[in-house]
Amino acid sequence: MRLGRFIGCMTGTSVDGLDLALIDVTHPNGADEALDENVTVVAANTLPLPKTLRDALLLCAQPDHSSVELLGACDAALGEFIGISINHWLRSLGVKSSSIRAIGSHGQTVRHRPSGGIASTEIDNPFTLQIGDPNQIAELTGIDTVADFRRRDMAAGGQGAPLAPAFHQVLFGDRLTRPCVVNIGGISNISPLDGSFSGFDSGPGNCLMDEWFSQHHQDSEVGFDLGGAWAASGRLDKPLLEQMLGDPFFSASAPKSTGREYFNQAWLNAQITSSQRQIAPQDVQATLAALTALSIAQAITAQMPDVQNVPVCGGGRRNEHLLGVLKEALARTGSLSSCVAATEHWGIDGDSVEAAAFGWLAYRRVYALSGNLVAVTGAMGSRVLGAIYPA
Ligand SMILES: Nc1ncnc2c1ncn2[C@@H]1O[C@H](COP(=O)(O)OP(=O)(O)O)[C@@H](O)[C@H]1O
Ligand SMILES: [Mg+2]
Repeated sequence: MRLGRFIGCMTGTSVDGLDLALIDVTHPNGADEALDENVTVVAANTLPLPKTLRDALLLCAQPDHSSVELLGACDAALGEFIGISINHWLRSLGVKSSSIRAIGSHGQTVRHRPSGGIASTEIDNPFTLQIGDPNQIAELTGIDTVADFRRRDMAAGGQGAPLAPAFHQVLFGDRLTRPCVVNIGGISNISPLDGSFSGFDSGPGNCLMDEWFSQHHQDSEVGFDLGGAWAASGRLDKPLLEQMLGDPFFSASAPKSTGREYFNQAWLNAQITSSQRQIAPQDVQATLAALTALSIAQAITAQMPDVQNVPVCGGGRRNEHLLGVLKEALARTGSLSSCVAATEHWGIDGDSVEAAAFGWLAYRRVYALSGNLVAVTGAMGSRVLGAIYPA
């Protein structure tokens, strides 16, 4: 039974581009709560963000520089950019907007504080905030738009994140033997698909490497360590690595989620300062790659020691050095026989997975099905996520 075509879109913590995915959802019997629908990614694309919008969004994400004025303007500007981008994209694909049941728009996270706000005010409720006005998207595209996926889970006592593990189950759960999906975006998250529906943020993905690289390569056109070549030219600094792995986030038990509010330039500078040693910049980069790889490997091994397949999605899968260190670390800490590879190895575009997840979440919302996994977010119960902005 065809359940409809949906578009998912998101800009991640790296703020590197707008990921779009067009998905087709079918089910032999009709929509149901079980995570057993069939999802096909029909088309996917990543569009660079205009530099002015990217700079403004990055500013919004910095607690010291954000303002209500900036937030409001960015909310509208990103919504407008998403709406226009979807219209262009559908036209280029020759797909009619009337054939799309709904858009699921994650938006841009400008703050994620699952453990509460800042201590400088007396009000310190946990909150998470994504912008990219869905009214703009619905107005421009004429397609029902679903947005605000995280806050209902948080209202129910959950972390509001990560939300992708349920979709990883739909995409990979029945196809691979003992899989653990890894997404290496700005932050990394793992989804051990061992039947227990778990998953959590393991810590930094590319965000610290991106910070450090940019600090030392201000004239770089790409803005990140292409292929991990700079990290590969450095030497791992073991004392710094051990000190960084001593951060309480890594040993905290799930549910847990994190963001740029925690793993950022200030965190990195504090680590380097407290190491009280002079470390060459490329050695710091090598150590940061090892931090990402080892924290992922340790999280996988602790959750799923007999893991067999590790499909890696997100931009970090393109960092050959990082993937190499991850393979070594998994071989050392866990199953020697596990196959660690970019999701393309299993025929799935690794840039489209997270965007497709929000298309799938839009499908769940339209059919009034739950979108969260209690074991992942820690919410009090399953909840239908997101609000619908009708065309
Ligand atoms: N060829 C590459 N080599 C190394 N790193 C890469 C490459 N391509 C992408 N990346 C990394 O992936 C990041 C983007 O990943 P992405 O999955 O889009 O993250 P997010 O979800 O946070 O936006 C970039 O900031 C960069 O660090
Ligand atoms: Mg991205």
